[in-house]
Amino acid sequence: MIGTSYLGATHAICMAHLGYDVIGVDVDAEKVAKLTAGVVPFFEPGLTELLEATLATGRLRFTTSYDEAADADVHFVCVGTPQRRGENAADLSYIESAMASLAPLLTRPTVVIGKSTVPVGTAERMLAFLHEHAPVGNQVEMVWNPEFLREGWAIEDTLHPDRLVFGVTSSTGEKAMREIFASMISTGVPVVVTDLATAQLVKVAANAFLATKISFINAMAEVCEVTHADVKKLSEALSYDGRIGGRFLHAGLGFGGGCLPKDIRAFMARAGELGVDQALSFLSEVDAINQRRRARMVDLARECVDDSFKRRKVGVLGAAFKPNSDDIRDSPALDVATRIHKAGAQVTVYDPAAMVNARRDYPALTYAASAEEAIDGADVVLHLTEWQEFRELDPVALADRVRQRHIVDGRNALDAERWRAAGWHYRALGRP
Ligand SMILES: NC(=O)c1ccc[n+]([C@@H]2O[C@H](COP(=O)([O-])OP(=O)(O)OC[C@H]3O[C@@H](n4cnc5c(N)ncnc54)[C@H](O)[C@@H]3O)[C@@H](O)[C@H]2O)c1
Repeated sequence: MIGTSYLGATHAICMAHLGYDVIGVDVDAEKVAKLTAGVVPFFEPGLTELLEATLATGRLRFTTSYDEAADADVHFVCVGTPQRRGENAADLSYIESAMASLAPLLTRPTVVIGKSTVPVGTAERMLAFLHEHAPVGNQVEMVWNPEFLREGWAIEDTLHPDRLVFGVTSSTGEKAMREIFASMISTGVPVVVTDLATAQLVKVAANAFLATKISFINAMAEVCEVTHADVKKLSEALSYDGRIGGRFLHAGLGFGGGCLPKDIRAFMARAGELGVDQALSFLSEVDAINQRRRARMVDLARECVDDSFKRRKVGVLGAAFKPNSDDIRDSPALDVATRIHKAGAQVTVYDPAAMVNARRDYPALTYAASAEEAIDGADVVLHLTEWQEFRELDPVALADRVRQRHIVDGRNALDAERWRAAGWHYRALGRP
């Protein structure tokens, strides 16, 4: 398993749990040391327990040395494909470097399985590279096996996926995949076998669709804001339409994280290279709607403090890009917190899991040890990541801790009536 972060470590641990001998290879020595010691270097419910259990079986180990993985029957590639700085396109340098390290080790027929999310055409290019540079030449098989796991539900999604997609170039690749995933396939998990291009596209198309659905309802929220309509009721009414469905139809602060934003941008960039940029031009609007929600959140907060953040205290609930994760990559919560900080407020942030990451990357913000501490003396409280812990906050008990009882619910997840009944001035995106 090459690359052992959110995707690769989860997959390594789950494959060892299924009975395979797994070696995780990562260039980050600190990460490898932690995993070897039974410490998951990120927050993922249940993963520490599963790591400890699988390490104890002796079937799982981690290393920084590619040589130690030389005798593997198959190689999964799970390295990062972040957005290039200042561009929409994906940075493929990690995957290129992983393939370059792997190639000399391929001395017998092997299957290389790409799991990273890549621009369509990358797999074909990597396969040509391996054929050229591996000692075994064109006996390297390549499969693209896009991953749909969600942080926060990573174990469940890995062990019980809703579908498996195998992008193959031959029956050998398909046979290998069916063997590797036999235990899941036997439980009825649907398998879609495709060519390499389609498999790479499945992942970015899925993310483009999800992002579009979120931005659709957030566009409706913008209209609701000027018509005094209620987007929460609107989405509820839409959700009963079986053709539409209610999932990913919650209006709020929008999407962030290490996948959706960079994947739709990389998809647009790739479409441009392929001469079909018009086909995906709607994604730039999807991205723009998403960004506008962050600006609107800042405006709502500003309205609560008489149009100026100067010398105001703002309590922020949430830093992770979503609940049950410590991932702060392109986090809407920290984006909003930073904008308000830059506008002159003292911003105090609390998150149940992402404090270490947030402190490291956003040192200018102030951090608190609890939700209560974050809102102490606040002029306005912002609910920006929908952790269960925040839903359970008691507005009555909190009322006396703040300077002004203003709460802006960026996730439309708090019980508005309860907060209002406790004397709070409750505002939310897309609602009167
Ligand atoms: N995080 C998710 O929920 C998720 C879900 C589905 C797909 N994906 C995709 O999976 C890929 C990985 O995602 P992530 O969130 O785990 O990324 P990440 O950036 O958190 O981790 C990448 C890991 O790869 C390691 N690495 C980089 N170069 C390497 C090399 N040459 N050799 C070995 N290791 C190397 C890094 O040290 C790091 O540990 C991305 O393409 C992402 O889009 C992620």
